[in-house]
Amino acid sequence: MKNYKITLIKGDGIGPEIIDEAVKVLDAISTDEDFELKYDEALMGGCAYDITGDPLPQETIDKSLASDAVLFGAIGGQKWDSLEREKRPESGLLRFRKELEVFANLRPAVVYDELVNASSLKPEIIQGVDIMVVRELIGGIYFGEPKGRDENKGWNTMVYTRDEIVRIAHEAFKIAMSRDKRVCSIDKANVLDVSQLWRDVVTEVATEYPEVTLTHMYVDNAAMQLILNPKQFDVMLTGNIFGDILSDEASMLSGSIGLLPSASIGSKIGVYEPIHGSAPDIAGQGIANPIATIASASMMLRYALGEERAADRIDAAIKQALSEGYRTKDLSAFDAKEICSTSEMGSIIANYAAKCTL
Ligand code: IPM
Ligand code: MG
Repeated sequence: MKNYKITLIKGDGIGPEIIDEAVKVLDAISTDEDFELKYDEALMGGCAYDITGDPLPQETIDKSLASDAVLFGAIGGQKWDSLEREKRPESGLLRFRKELEVFANLRPAVVYDELVNASSLKPEIIQGVDIMVVRELIGGIYFGEPKGRDENKGWNTMVYTRDEIVRIAHEAFKIAMSRDKRVCSIDKANVLDVSQLWRDVVTEVATEYPEVTLTHMYVDNAAMQLILNPKQFDVMLTGNIFGDILSDEASMLSGSIGLLPSASIGSKIGVYEPIHGSAPDIAGQGIANPIATIASASMMLRYALGEERAADRIDAAIKQALSEGYRTKDLSAFDAKEICSTSEMGSIIANYAAKCTL
C-alpha cells in the first residue's frame, strides 16, 4: 500500500469547511484504492497571523516541503486588511508560492453540461467550453522590483526574464499536446516592453512544438473574446496578473466561482487550491460550494500522486451529483432538485465516488 503525506492548509473564512469536504471525499476512495493519505495541518493567512504574528510561519513551509502535496483552502478577510502589507494574509500566500517555486498555475475552466443554464451567458455560447488557463505564478508585477509607496505615489514593476517565460511557455505547450494542441498567449505587447519580450520568447519556444498552433492576443481583446466566443480557446498562456483577472472571468462561464479548481506546480511540490477566495461573508454558514476544492483534490491525485483512476472517480462523482440535481446555494436557481449544505454536498460526492467503479 502506498503512503502519501498531504499538508492541509485550511486558512481563513470558508477554508476549513471546504477542506473538510475534500478530505471526506479523498478518504471515501482511498480505502479501496491502493493508497493511504496521511494529513498534517499547517497554518497560513489571517489565522496564522493571529496565533504567531506571521501569516506564513516557517513551520508551514518546512512541513509542506516535506510532504507529497499541499491541499489549500483560502486565506484573507477584512479583519486583516489594515495590517501592513507583509503581515497581510495575501503576502503569506505569495511568499508561500515563491518558497515552493510553483511557477505554473493551471486553472481549468470547464462548463458542466448539467450547469449550462447557470452562466450569465447564453447556453449556446458556453456549452462545451473547456479552457485551461496556464498562469505564471511567481513573477511579473506581483513580485517585480522596485515597488513601494509614499504618501503621494505608489509603484510596482512588471518584470519577466527570458528564463521565466521559457519555463512557463514549455508548461503551456506540453499541456496543449495532451489537449487540442492550441495555445493562445496573452500579453499587452502593443504597450509594454515586458510583453514584447514575452511574445518573442513564447514564439521561440513554440518552434519546439510544431504540432501546436500558437496565436497571440492582447489582454483587453482576450477579456472580450472570453465573453464573445469562449469556445475558441484551448490553452490560454498568461503572465501573473493577466491570468489572475482572466481566470476569474473564465470562472463565470461555468456558472459559479465555487466550481473552479487549480494546481500550482513547479520543481518542488505542488499546491492544489480552489481559485476562489475565503468568502468571509458566508463563512460558518454551511452554504459554501465545496466542489472547487474537491476538484482540486482530484487534480492533486492526478498531478502530484499519479493516482489517475482515483482522480477520475472524483470527477465522475462531481458530475453525477450535479446531474442528479444537487446544488449548493450559489447554484440553487439552476435546475436544482435539491439544495444542499456544504457538508451534504461533500457527503453526496464522497458517496458517489466510493461507489464509482471505473
Ligand atoms: C488567486 C488570488 C490571489 C492572487 C490573492 C489572494 C493573492 O486572487 O489565487 O487568484 O492574486 O493570486
Ligand atoms: Mg485571483
